[in-house]
Order: sequence, then structure tokens, then C-alpha cells
Amino acid sequence: MAESMQGLHRSCRCAEVTSEMVGSKVTLMGWVQKARNKGGIIFVDLRDRSGIMQLIFENGPIDEEGFEKASKLRSEFVIAVTGTVEKRGGAVNTNLSTGDIEVIVDSLRVLAEADVPPFPIEENSKTKDEIRLKYRYLDLRRPDLQRNLMLKSQVAMLTRQFFAKEGFLEIETPMLGKSTPEGARDYLVPSRVHPGSFYGLPQSPQLYKQLLMCSGYDRYIQIARCFRDEDLRADRQPEFTQIDMELSFVDVDDVIDVNERYLAFLFKEVLDVDVQLPIQRMTWQEAMDRFGSDKPDIRFGMELQNVSEVVKDCEFVVFKNALEMGGSVRGITVPGQGAMPRKKLDKLVDFAKTYGAKGLAYIALAEDGAMKSSFAKFMKEEEMKALIEAMGAKPGDLMLFAADKNKVVYDVLGALRVEMAKQLDLLDKNEYKFLWVTEFPLLEWDEEANRFTAMHHPFTMLMDEDLELLDTDPGKVRAKAYDIVLNGNEIGGGSVRIHQNHIQEKMFEKLGFTKEAAYEQFGFLLNAFKYGVPPHAGLAYGLDRLVMLMAKVDSIRDVIAFPKVKDASCLMTQSPSVVSEAQLEELGLDISAAQTEAEEE
Ligand code: AMO
Ligand code: AMP
Repeated sequence: MAESMQGLHRSCRCAEVTSEMVGSKVTLMGWVQKARNKGGIIFVDLRDRSGIMQLIFENGPIDEEGFEKASKLRSEFVIAVTGTVEKRGGAVNTNLSTGDIEVIVDSLRVLAEADVPPFPIEENSKTKDEIRLKYRYLDLRRPDLQRNLMLKSQVAMLTRQFFAKEGFLEIETPMLGKSTPEGARDYLVPSRVHPGSFYGLPQSPQLYKQLLMCSGYDRYIQIARCFRDEDLRADRQPEFTQIDMELSFVDVDDVIDVNERYLAFLFKEVLDVDVQLPIQRMTWQEAMDRFGSDKPDIRFGMELQNVSEVVKDCEFVVFKNALEMGGSVRGITVPGQGAMPRKKLDKLVDFAKTYGAKGLAYIALAEDGAMKSSFAKFMKEEEMKALIEAMGAKPGDLMLFAADKNKVVYDVLGALRVEMAKQLDLLDKNEYKFLWVTEFPLLEWDEEANRFTAMHHPFTMLMDEDLELLDTDPGKVRAKAYDIVLNGNEIGGGSVRIHQNHIQEKMFEKLGFTKEAAYEQFGFLLNAFKYGVPPHAGLAYGLDRLVMLMAKVDSIRDVIAFPKVKDASCLMTQSPSVVSEAQLEELGLDISAAQTEAEEE
């Protein structure tokens, strides 16, 4: 009995009907949220992406046949109705924007019937993720997800609008590119025409956008899909979207300037939030020392204290060993948690261990000044006093200490700081604290590979004053790299690029590339630089992460229409999937072992 449109036109969406329209005729179309038959009168909540409108079916305004049809409506039927807007006869529903009006229906068309959905289509669903993702097309009907995707669309639209006004050109770059094994793992696409050869899907348009600068496009922007085969987390997907840009004839401050104005514009337009400009800047070193993180959440304090000096002569082996191997002893003071029960403290120790800690030392001060500590027995009384003083702790506070190599100490305390803020409910999603983190180290020592890797990427320029260090002490060189951080999330990052070939070649050398290997992989870029390359710099935002924070949700899955789960599969389409022998043959591929395993599953 599904009817079709046959010339009928929707006059507006449900929530676009207002009380000023009382008395006028409207034609609405959407899904039945719920239908209640009260005998002579049928109430139907009609839903579309704008919201809900209450419909009234009564013999009189609608004929008998229509009323009969209405009595058979069930949840998720798709209908079209025409009727008159009226003030609500019954109680006003203050939860709805349309809560004071209703539509008295005079004609009904059932456009599609629907089976009973596997879970209710409602806000704040309690249905398990796996079920929702399997039926993602139903999940996407839920109002919270619809709001998130509408927000994302608005952000993309405003982004294009802002950067177009600033003279940026939107230019597409290829999805089928060259695999370059720096950075994360590539997704590969086998070539049919060149059996045994593969394209790499872009981890970002980095090289192409630099080439566009060589070609004189001057200011580029793209809302670009990126692919990275890495372990997934709440803020990571194997394919995600960047707002990617590159500018010529600029330095760090120029990139920061246009992006600060962009963020202020975006947050004002979308959330009516005023971003205070200029956005605070902090060097990487300061961020690590004060917050134990290169993406600090500065909505709250609990900063790290370096107490290495204070404990340097103590007899506690844990502290002594850490200092002897060139590490440090640092701590955070958690206000008001001095009475934390032992069980909860043990949980914190376990938490710290997941970040590489060998243990977690603590001092808990009771309100009356009494002290409990896991290591007091190894310390002199005056040493404990000095330590508590250095931590600035007051009666009732809890102090947590990590002693290890600096990297471990930063990781552990940085994570504990955020964990404590969560437990103490200090994180307000309505508060937006931006921060630029600058002067990142250029290189990072990779223990496993026994060589340096680029912290941002191999095309990042070093700070002018550190040029000479590249030969003498490469680990100390700082880069012209910057991240934009929002509430403890890295929402974007970028750098000034190397545009001098001799520096780029030296950079590759430090990264352990021979000249031949560098040219084999990146020859097109190095060659392009020989023909006149302007100084250039850029930045890319993670659009999904940005929208996740603007939508105040905890996972980027909630702002991506069809996301993947932890093992990078799609529960709805069942991808990735096994392909036919014929397809494999055509591609010249033979994957016997893995394939039979997958088939067995
Ligand atoms: P970077 O690798 O820092 O820089 O990426 C830029 C931003 O993209 C987001 N992001 C992700 N979002 C979701 N899922 C992922 N797996 C994921 N990985 C990264 C982050 C990050 O800040 N080409 C450089 C940019 C440049 O130098 O101009 C780049 O890709 O928010
Ligand atoms: P132990 O001597 O092993 O009983 O350790 C005494 C205290 O020091 C315990 O609370 C341990 O959890 C803690 N501890 C052990 N290793 C570390 C470390 N690397 N950093 C901070 N505390 C530690």
C-alpha cells in the first residue's frame, strides 16, 4: 500500500512550523516516531531531521478512509500529511520547539511501511554499539546523530566560506598516490595494469600541497580524506577528514594569524562562543614540564612539579635510581583527595602502570595534617617536609609521584592529571580552551630502529637559531612546527617547510636515508624544488576531532556517518571482505594462507 509522491510537495520540515503559522495549511513528510490511538482521536508524532510535530487525526477533518489508514500507522512508517496548524488543544510540551502547536490532518499518504526496528529510534540510545553500527542507517535517524552530522556540514560550509574570502583556492589531490613508508602504515591498492605494483592511499595531501606551492597557487585548502593504518582509539579512525591548507611566502606567525581568525569565526558562528585572541602559545618543552603532555588540557591546574632537586640526596632507591639514570622525580598534587581509600589508590597505581610506570609513590595528607605515604619509611622526616612544601600541598591533599626516565614520568603524570580531573568532574564540555604548542623537537630517537625519525614529518623546517645543531646535536634541534590544541585534544598541526634543497637533503641524511633512497622516494619533490620554490608553510585540522569537541561528544564515531570499529572493520557492510579468485588473478595477487583463514571464519 506504499503510495508515491504524485505531485505532492513538502511545504516545510516539522520544526520549521511555528506558532505564527496557526491557521495555515502545511504539507509535512517524515517518519512516525510514535502513534497513539485514543479511540476517536489518533495522535502521531511525526519526525524528520528538523524535529517533531504532533499530528491529530480525527473523523471530520480527515475522511473515514483516511482515519482508517491512520489507525494502522506504526513507528517508522514514512508518511505525507496535509493539514492545518492549530494551537495545541492539550498540554503544551515544553521539551519540543513545536510543543505549543499541532497539525490537524485532512489527508494522509503512507509512502512506506516499516518493519519493527531492532532498537528504538531515540535520543541518548542505550542500545549496544555493535547493534547500532550494524544497523547504522537506523542509528543515523536518531536526533543526536542527526544534529552532529548537520553540525559537521555547517562547519565544512563555514570553513570553505572563510578561507575562500581569505584568498584560498580549493584544489583536489589524488587518492591513488605513491606509498611512502614514513609516518603511519599506508593502505595499499593493487594495480591491475601493473601487476605487483601498488598505489598508496594518502595519509595526508602533504607532498601534493607543497608541490602546489611550487606551482604558484599560493594559498590552497582542501577538505581531504586521509587514510592511516594504525591502531584505533576514540579519537582515531583509519579514514578521517582533514581541513588541509598550505600558504606561500609566510612564516609561523602568518599561519597562526589566519587560523586564529578562522577559529574565532567558526566558534562564534556555530556555538556563539567567543575565542579570546590571540590564543595562548606555549613551547613544547614548557607543555611537557608543566603538564606532562604535548597536548595539555589547560581547563584545570594540577601542574607537574619537578622535585628531583629536593629528593636528590635521599635514600629511597626508586628515586635514587631514576636520578642516576638521568631521569627525574616529579609529582602532581590532587586537591582534597588526601582521604582517598586504599583501593582507589591501588587502582591509580594500576592506571599509572598502563602508561609505563613501574610504580606510583604517594603522600596523602589528612585534614588534621596526619600523613600516609607509600615511601615515608625510606625518607628522613625533614626530607618529607621539604617534599610536601615543594609540592605546595595543603592538609587534605594527595600527592602522586613518578620516578623514571623523563619520557615515562611525563606520560604517567600527564595521564594521571587528566584522569584525576575526570574523576573530580573538572572537565566542562562547554568551556573551550585553545592553546598553540610550538617549537617541537625536530627529531625523535627511535629505540627500535636505532635512528632518528621526524617528529612531525621530514619536510619540517628547523628553527633558524638551531641550524648548526643539526650536525652537532640533532636531538636538540627545535622545529618550526606547531599544534593547535583544544581541551587536551590535538585538533590540528603543521609546520613551516624546508624549501632549500641542501637542508632537505641533510634532513634525509639525519633520518638515515641515503641520497639515492631519498631521491627514489621523494625525487619528484626534491626535483621540483630545483625549479624555484617559494618559502611555504601549512597546517591541517582533524575535522572529525574538531566537530567531536564542538558537538560535545566523546568519540569521533559520533560525528562520522559510517565509521569503522576498533579492528578497522565496518559492521554494517562487513568490510573488509574476501574477494573472488577471479579478482585476485586479474590483479596478479596470491594470498593463499590469509585467505583460507578468512574464509574459514
Ligand atoms: P597530522 O598528522 O598532525 O599532520 O594530522 C593533522 C590532524 O589530523 C587529525 N588526525 C586524525 N583524526 C582522526 N583519525 C586519525 N587517525 C587521525 N590522524 C590525525 C589530528 C591531527 O592534528 N600533513 C600534516 C599537516 C601539515 O603539516 O600541514 C599532517 O597530516 O587532529
Ligand atoms: P617498593 O620499595 O617497591 O615497595 O616501592 C615503594 C613505593 O614506591 C611504592 O608505592 C611503589 O609503588 C613506588 N614506586 C615504585 N617504582 C616507582 C617509580 N618508578 N616511580 C614512583 N613510584 C614508584
